[in-house]
Amino acid sequence: MIDLGLDGARAVVVGAGFIPSRAGHGRGSALQLARAGATVACIDKDAARAEEIVEEITAEGGKAFTVIADVLRPEQASAAIDEAAATMGGLDVCVDIVGQAKWSKAAEITDAEWNSQLLVNLTQVFYVFRAATPHLMVNDKGGSLIALTSVDGIGSARFHAGYGAAKAGVISLVKTFADEYGTHGVRVNAVAPGNVGGGNWDLPEVPFGEDVVNALAPPRGRDIADAVLFLASGLAAKITGQTLIVDGGALIQSPWGMTEDQIARNAAFSDPS
Ligand SMILES: NC(=O)c1ccc[n+]([C@@H]2O[C@H](COP(=O)([O-])OP(=O)(O)OC[C@H]3O[C@@H](n4cnc5c(N)ncnc54)[C@H](O)[C@@H]3O)[C@@H](O)[C@H]2O)c1
Repeated sequence: MIDLGLDGARAVVVGAGFIPSRAGHGRGSALQLARAGATVACIDKDAARAEEIVEEITAEGGKAFTVIADVLRPEQASAAIDEAAATMGGLDVCVDIVGQAKWSKAAEITDAEWNSQLLVNLTQVFYVFRAATPHLMVNDKGGSLIALTSVDGIGSARFHAGYGAAKAGVISLVKTFADEYGTHGVRVNAVAPGNVGGGNWDLPEVPFGEDVVNALAPPRGRDIADAVLFLASGLAAKITGQTLIVDGGALIQSPWGMTEDQIARNAAFSDPS
């Protein structure tokens, strides 16, 4: 048996509710943490969705409870984290999956849209991390902070510039929090999903090589939840300040479009003899 080190851990998942047409990253993260033995405070702005994930976890024999808050409001973000930590007697893991892209061409984004994209995708992560960090630092016991970024924070974010800039900001934010609080045992990481899309939680795996958009293989919601679980666990004890890309290999594909029948031609071309 491999010990993930999460049995009895006290975790919060911000955005734990599930909207069936979307990816379900909060639901998946909350379920996996509970399955690993953590008690999960399911923070969500929507009380019914928070209640649903708590019921799902409880039905599996796990431990969870709701905390209702809109983390775009700094006072609510901090009150929710404090309430969760007070209920559990402390905090070991904090996962924030909140975020959403708004689509339009870069030069057509209004001031309000830009500011809203930064708030939803970056600033609220700061609010949540700022609130959670002191709880992890109690007696230097440490713990794990995890946020969702996106491959759009690494490459271009075509037609959703604000989202991409904010997600790039999350990649920076985890490094700085990791650097500033690492000596207290606080690990801080991000998961960067590729094109999970939405509403496909229960679809079967697509084999590598069969999807035209994600030529290597599209990730599913469960792949993101597994990455969150790994980073929260003792298996990642020396991993901090990192962004774990879970995109089925989409970003690392060669830009050359080389096919296997070109090998001989290119080999001959590059052979000086
Ligand atoms: N689906 C993809 O392909 C993909 C790719 C890259 C990154 N992501 C990232 O995944 C995350 C979204 O995951 P999802 O689509 O499963 O989530 P979602 O949008 O379905 O939201 C999950 C829950 O979060 C709650 N929530 C939203 N705003 C909140 C707030 N301000 N305060 C408290 N709760 C709030 C919602 O009520 C909902 O129950 C984002 O960070 C997004 O950038 C998704």
